[in-house]
Amino acid sequence: VRDDTKRPLIGVIDDGTKTARFVIYEAERADELTSYQLDKTEVQPQEGWSEQDPLEIIHHIKKCAEKAIEQLKELGYSKEDLVTLGITNQRETTIAWDKYTGEPMHPAIAWNDIRTDSTVDAILAKVPDRNKNYLKHICGLPISPYFSALKMRWLKDNVKAVRKASRDKRLLFGTVDSWIVWNLTGGPQGGLHITDVTNASRTLLMNLDTLNWDPMLCRLFGIHRDCLPQILSSSEVYGVVKDGSVLDGIRISGILGNQQSALVGQNCLHAGQAKNTYRSGCFLLYNTGSRRVHSAHGLVTTLAYQLGPNVPPVYALEGSIAVAGGAMKFLRDNLKLIKDVATDTEHIAGQVFSTGDVYFVPAFSGLYAPYWRKDARGIICGLTTFTTKNHIIRAALEAVCFQTRDILEAMHKDCGVALTKLHVDGKMSSNDLLMQLQADVIGMPVLRAHSWDMSPLGVGIMAGSAVGVWCVDTWRRHALPTETFLPTTTLDDRDARYTKWKMAVQRSLGWATS
Ligand code: G3P
Repeated sequence: VRDDTKRPLIGVIDDGTKTARFVIYEAERADELTSYQLDKTEVQPQEGWSEQDPLEIIHHIKKCAEKAIEQLKELGYSKEDLVTLGITNQRETTIAWDKYTGEPMHPAIAWNDIRTDSTVDAILAKVPDRNKNYLKHICGLPISPYFSALKMRWLKDNVKAVRKASRDKRLLFGTVDSWIVWNLTGGPQGGLHITDVTNASRTLLMNLDTLNWDPMLCRLFGIHRDCLPQILSSSEVYGVVKDGSVLDGIRISGILGNQQSALVGQNCLHAGQAKNTYRSGCFLLYNTGSRRVHSAHGLVTTLAYQLGPNVPPVYALEGSIAVAGGAMKFLRDNLKLIKDVATDTEHIAGQVFSTGDVYFVPAFSGLYAPYWRKDARGIICGLTTFTTKNHIIRAALEAVCFQTRDILEAMHKDCGVALTKLHVDGKMSSNDLLMQLQADVIGMPVLRAHSWDMSPLGVGIMAGSAVGVWCVDTWRRHALPTETFLPTTTLDDRDARYTKWKMAVQRSLGWATS
């Protein structure tokens, strides 16, 4: 007898920088029913390079799906209850593959890889005054190694197989969402080559008005339109899985970059709402509604989501921080100051009441928003004979908070309205000390989500809405439980410490070129 309280299920593929996951939700319920996760291998063949194996991505996704679906049985469900799939992914990471064999031609170049430094210089040489913001009015982004077009250009310039495939018209480029969909829907036997507006908006090649590849941008980067996927909305039935895996026969109906997905998952669906996700990097997105705000203060204009074809898109301003949790990993692996990122940072940093005037700028591979300086490098300053490792660890936590304040200041200047509260998620947000420091540094309440991982939820809603089992309007009115951290500092305290942070940032700029 069928249990009528059961709802249809939605499966979400979540490919992040460090892990691949498969999460299952019941429609209209924010709590995950079950999930399975595998760690991914990151390869760093040279300083500043970061690669992933595209075949491992597909292998892990299928394995996680299999395991999560197995767990369904114990919960009284079966695979047949899965009505649709959503995909959320690390953004900007770029893959080149052969249209006829499906072979990747090179490892995936990850978003935080900075090998394209000289490619950036070559592109800047072609624009007036070498102005890195020259393309911003078209695509919302500065010319930086972070974005996919630079990685595509690098692959064409440096990998023989890619050049040859381009000449032979067998080259396909894509961000991770495209690679996943292409493989799931049949690969060389007719796989779909598509992406959604949010992922496309991270390439430097999409025009924010037309939501299509911009001919001038494609020419500037030397990327042929035929190699690129078709850009679709974030919520529509794109196709059906045809790969012989456990997911075979299930529709795919939602795609969102993982930070946009967290914005939807955090229910920041109204203009003026913002969320910050703390993982190895940190990404603050501010929903600007149908208004495309041009940032004059170092933020990027990006697509937040598009709820279906022919539905007007929703835009966001984003402040991307390259290193957040990554600094804790550095303290553990390089300096050996801590053993466990999750527990030690909170415990050890909590043993001192301040950083003792120590500031840590973790600009290991340059600084992203709002500075966009690829020549910045990490510094720890303000050391005295009084400084202990506790102060340095605390300064690393505070660095995340100050970088967030940098972004909020820029958002305030761009939008003219100050945010009054900040929604947060991401694994690092489970650190209570960090959350309190964050509230203290920005002087506003920090609202921690009921689950640290809100990324898969967002695209689950998009996928469910496309097939009519999850209503976005109901979701909009849905208040999620949160835990609040209130600021305990005065305006003067905050500003004095922030001034010192800015001084530390100044010292990190230009280090890689001097
Ligand atoms: O823009 C990069 C971002 O999407 C990476 O996210 O959480 O996988 O590190 P994450």
